[in-house]
Amino acid sequence: MNFFLETLKLIVLLIYYLLESLVFLVVPGRKKNVSGEIVLITGAGSGIGRLLAIKFASLGATVVLWDINQEGLNCTVRLARENGAGRVHSYICDCSKTQDVYRVADQVKKEVGDVSILINNAGIVIGKRFLDSPDSLLEKTIQVNTMAHFWTYKAFLPAMVAANHGHLVCIASCAGFLGISHISDYCASKFAALGFAESIDMEMRALRKTGIKTTIVCPYVINTGMFDGVKANFLPVKAAVLLLDYFGGMEIMSTFKGRPKKE
Ligand SMILES: NC(=O)c1ccc[n+]([C@@H]2O[C@H](COP(=O)([O-])OP(=O)(O)OC[C@H]3O[C@@H](n4cnc5c(N)ncnc54)[C@H](O)[C@@H]3O)[C@@H](O)[C@H]2O)c1
Repeated sequence: MNFFLETLKLIVLLIYYLLESLVFLVVPGRKKNVSGEIVLITGAGSGIGRLLAIKFASLGATVVLWDINQEGLNCTVRLARENGAGRVHSYICDCSKTQDVYRVADQVKKEVGDVSILINNAGIVIGKRFLDSPDSLLEKTIQVNTMAHFWTYKAFLPAMVAANHGHLVCIASCAGFLGISHISDYCASKFAALGFAESIDMEMRALRKTGIKTTIVCPYVINTGMFDGVKANFLPVKAAVLLLDYFGGMEIMSTFKGRPKKE
């Protein structure tokens, strides 16, 4: 009888969740209120990180901005202050270095407080064929795009677990779903970041920490400078993936130049 009831419950919930996700496809869900949250964004000195910093500041969040680029960071701080009511803090932190992450994370906890929204956004791309990529750069890609996520979670997740409140955001890539020529290390790093973020989400669910949410973002090519020179096609991600070969996706990196050194 117990087995019958459990199975019935499973089927009803399964149908309910499927219908719910169909509804959310057309009706936007309720927006999260981030006012008063402490939001840490890695790689905030440029591109997506900068835009996120400005947006979160404008929504009344306290933003904590990390980057290795002081000039870029200063610019983001100025823009976030101009656009937002919340507090803005910035720190130089090399996310590829474990001890740097732990040291600066301790500083943040003392000076700002416990981070409640963590956005792992910092990323790099080499853009060479695998056999032409120096070992040190291959390692760097994994350190920045994947392992940095381990260290930031280690630093900030315990407080979220204790409070059963928090949000973990992984800026991955559609390159985390499929292999692409010339960026094998980048794809590997994004596959790994995605798998890591999804696994920790499952761990939080297993621990019944329902107050800790996870969002994984998988953008296609965005005009931030990171993929300068790449000729992206105009299709939606799923259609692009389906027709990748036909639309030249296999050679998408062949015209890659990257951001000029002076930036
Ligand atoms: N731009 C795109 O087309 C695109 C597409 C898919 C995914 N993404 C992902 O989005 C994220 C942001 O990309 P973007 O386009 O804004 O790139 P970007 O180059 O404009 O910004 C990345 C930032 O990360 C910082 N950074 C690099 N190494 C760091 C380190 N060791 N420690 C701390 N900061 C470091 C850089 O200084 C820079 O400010 C990346 O993870 C990227 O892989 C970008």
